[in-house]
Amino acid sequence: MGQARMSAPSALLGITSHWVHFDAFAALCYAHAHIGFTLYFAGACDMGWREKQAFFDQLADSWEAMERPDMLARLTDIITGLGIPPAARVLDVGCGAGVLFGLLRPLLGKDGRLVGLDISRRMLRHAVARGGADLCIQADAEHPPLRDRTFDWIICNAVFPHFTDSVATLRALRRCLTSNGTLVICHANGREAINAIHRQAGGAVAQDCLPDPAALTVLLRQAGLHPVHVVDSTDRYVVIAQPARE
Ligand SMILES: C[S@@+](CC[C@H](N)C(=O)[O-])C[C@H]1O[C@@H](n2cnc3c(N)ncnc32)[C@H](O)[C@@H]1O
Repeated sequence: MGQARMSAPSALLGITSHWVHFDAFAALCYAHAHIGFTLYFAGACDMGWREKQAFFDQLADSWEAMERPDMLARLTDIITGLGIPPAARVLDVGCGAGVLFGLLRPLLGKDGRLVGLDISRRMLRHAVARGGADLCIQADAEHPPLRDRTFDWIICNAVFPHFTDSVATLRALRRCLTSNGTLVICHANGREAINAIHRQAGGAVAQDCLPDPAALTVLLRQAGLHPVHVVDSTDRYVVIAQPARE
């Protein structure tokens, strides 16, 4: 199903009434002017993610309580080790309750831009309350309502296994990356542990599987990306990729 483009004024009205809002008017004006995002009706998008949205919506209120100190320490290590420079434009895909916001904001400073994107409105409500992002958008990562070549960094933390069509989603994210931008797929847990958690959780995520780096490399290449750094250890998984040269 296609997506419906809204005019700028109705986009502003639409986002304040139906989408996640924080400092709504200022944020939207800012987003429109600086990030160049184009707003789409969520309802006109592919509905493949609805089941997952419901799954994560019902976990949202307890999500922050599940952020364990050891996991946060590894996440801090992963994010600070990326070398994201001040003033970078960063997209946090599947931002959930905004666990990365507090790590990224100090790195980016006042000139950087941080946008969180998630399908779960309830998760986003917590992310907005936590603060740190310039804008939070409720959207499917496969159809990001964002302009081409907008972000220097796109971070997919603990979300890749949940994408319905991994290659289509990677392609869509690549479109949003600048030509020398960087895509990060990371987890602050090992691959086997992640896959076991999904199997045990069951329901909408039971089949969601984090591929080994060789399989992920195939998917990245199909999406026009190539891996430049891979860690697949017992306590973390980090794959860093950049757009392939055409
Ligand atoms: C396991 S949680 C991780 C949240 C956060 N990144 C963290 O580390 O706490 C996965 C998040 O990805 C979101 N998500 C799943 N599929 C998505 C998709 N196709 N597009 C955008 N967000 C998605 C879920 O709503 C959920 O908030």
